[in-house]
Amino acid sequence: MIRDFSYQNPTWIHFGKSAMEKLPMELSQYGERVLLVYGKSSIKRIPCGAEGQSLYDHVLQVLRAAGKRVVELGGVSANPRYSELLEGARLARENRVDLILAVGGGSVIDCAKGISCAAYAEGDVWERYYVRQEKVNNPIIPVGSILTMAGTGSEMNSGSVITNEAQRLKIGRVYPLAQVAPRFSILNPEFTYTVPRYQMVSGIADIFSHLMEQYFSDEDDCTTDYLIEGVMRSLISASRKAIQNPQDYEARSNIMWCATVALNKLLSLSKTEDWEVHMIEHQLGAYTDCAHGIGLAIISPAYYRHIYRYGLPRFVRFAQQVWGVEESKEQGAKNQEQIALAGIDCLEAFFRELGIPSTLREVGATEEMLPQIAHSTILGGGYKILTADDIETILRACY
Ligand code: NZQ
Ligand code: ZN
Repeated sequence: MIRDFSYQNPTWIHFGKSAMEKLPMELSQYGERVLLVYGKSSIKRIPCGAEGQSLYDHVLQVLRAAGKRVVELGGVSANPRYSELLEGARLARENRVDLILAVGGGSVIDCAKGISCAAYAEGDVWERYYVRQEKVNNPIIPVGSILTMAGTGSEMNSGSVITNEAQRLKIGRVYPLAQVAPRFSILNPEFTYTVPRYQMVSGIADIFSHLMEQYFSDEDDCTTDYLIEGVMRSLISASRKAIQNPQDYEARSNIMWCATVALNKLLSLSKTEDWEVHMIEHQLGAYTDCAHGIGLAIISPAYYRHIYRYGLPRFVRFAQQVWGVEESKEQGAKNQEQIALAGIDCLEAFFRELGIPSTLREVGATEEMLPQIAHSTILGGGYKILTADDIETILRACY
């Protein structure tokens, strides 16, 4: 652990089949006005509470029993739009809400965090908090979440990824953890049973990518990397069970917890971190509106084949520790390269096994878009600092 760090995560997690029982206790800590934020329709189809009741019915019942006055922002899009954030900010401000309760996947929770920072902000929030990443200098409304889809880790972090359709930009903002991460998150894995298979595997790929973005940086012997390898192995095992039986509680609960720990900062401690695949995917998403995890799964093998030589020992370790690729008796650099490439092949085969598409075409990208998408943000934390030409080469390799 050669780099210094400070770490505290402020989110209370209530996990398991009985997690919803903690909602009244959490609600009692806030004033009476609540903004309830949710997505298009899943909230009205997820069973919860009494026979025939939906999660939506149940949450409203609990809110009313707690004496809350509820304002609603429904219909938040997958890949939430800036216009939705602004509408939520207006509702939050005009109704002087005391708590924003997000019920949904990463999109709904990300939108809620954006609303919490935007409600009392002055000026152009997109320009200030997303494009220029300015410090937030206005009051922030607390957020709580009820998670319905495993993937982003938004339930225990302060990330908020917003799409500005007019500008064709999708930008992630990591707000200050202490103020903007949900104060509490309710994680009942049963709520994920209704997630369509395509979204489920998108979430799994997103979790895997979060783990890799943190793992593929640095060369020191760091406890965090051992933790990441363990979570990767758990995720692979649970995913294989969940695609056979989506109602396997053990598998779905493991996937849900993998998602949360993969991006609650614990697995970035003392790490430089890469995040280049995410930067490229966000641009892809701005052009195609594809599911985030699907985009990541398509780009990842091509990206890692492009850079593996620059971090060869780590790619060898990935192949051996995560996928069980064995070293052959023959020694030498060539052999190390073969092991590293075999690990990337295993990763790609895993995504295929989950039924994830393998080309950008399949998610709506056209050849004309590739040079535009190639102008993604370059962060430079990984083993090779890319150029726009590198990114275009990577995109063409998976087009
Ligand atoms: O809109 P509804 O009807 O709720 O349907 C959603 C949506 O269509 C559906 N869904 C969610 N829970 C369900 C369900 N359907 C049936 N049953 C359930 N229980 O699933 C669809 C996708 O939901 P969404 O919230 O968009 O998925 P996800 O959790 O993958 O979130 C993706 C967004 O998060 C951002 C992504 O870029 C993308 O915008 N990210 C956020 C991060 C963060 N906060 O740290 C980091 C990530 O890397 C990521 O960038
Ligand atoms: Zn992600």
